[in-house]
Amino acid sequence: MTEKEKYAVIGGTGLSRLSGVAVERREAMTTPYGSPSADLTVGALAGHRMVFLARHGDRHTIPPHRINYRANIHALKQAGVTHIIAVAAVGGIDELAAPAAIVLPDQLIDYSYGREHTFSDGTQDQVTHIDFTEPYTSSLRTALLQAGASAGLSMSDGGVYGCTQGPRLETPAEIARMARDGCTLVGMTGMPEAALAREAGIAYACVAVVANWAAGITDAEITMPEIHANLEQGMADVGLLLSAFFGRGE
Ligand code: HPA
Repeated sequence: MTEKEKYAVIGGTGLSRLSGVAVERREAMTTPYGSPSADLTVGALAGHRMVFLARHGDRHTIPPHRINYRANIHALKQAGVTHIIAVAAVGGIDELAAPAAIVLPDQLIDYSYGREHTFSDGTQDQVTHIDFTEPYTSSLRTALLQAGASAGLSMSDGGVYGCTQGPRLETPAEIARMARDGCTLVGMTGMPEAALAREAGIAYACVAVVANWAAGITDAEITMPEIHANLEQGMADVGLLLSAFFGRGE
């Protein structure tokens, strides 16, 4: 981590607040796209300055398809953020994504629709086509995997994040199709967030926490208590991961 680098954590379901952060201030941001999901929390984690943003709002009231992804990424850019660690709850499709596991996907497929998904919407001087061959920044993924290993966490390296529209969960037929497409994880917020970060020139990696087996993967019904219990365990590990990451003293 160099002086020029500034890190943000975007917290998803199960992580509206990040414990262990010494809060310096809260910053209300305005952007050309409207307001972000919440004020930015500026503070320090493991002695390193960072910014936290609650993706679904402070009280977790904004559903995935109503999140103002453009305002969120623009606000972080305005705050000088160069790297985003995006924490997200997901459903597990393959065996490496069992409930409570942490997975760092390396690919994605976008099944969402109707979301404001680009800054390149005809209001700029030039149309831009970002390279998205590697949707997640590999150097940031590697640094997170190393920090997790040093903290004794077992994390899965790689996976394909399929982004659905939500807020409902999927049908087993939809999950079967996603598995045929190669998806190993399913979530609702990974896009357009990752693409907007790339457009804004911000490094971006996703730390996915598996809340449940996706629909139809097992015979069991998906229940909210199960999701909450797995997220509690997984997010505790994310806390250890982030402390190790920010405390690694490079
Ligand atoms: N599907 C989509 N998003 C999710 C799921 C799921 O099963 N679990 C947590 N987020």
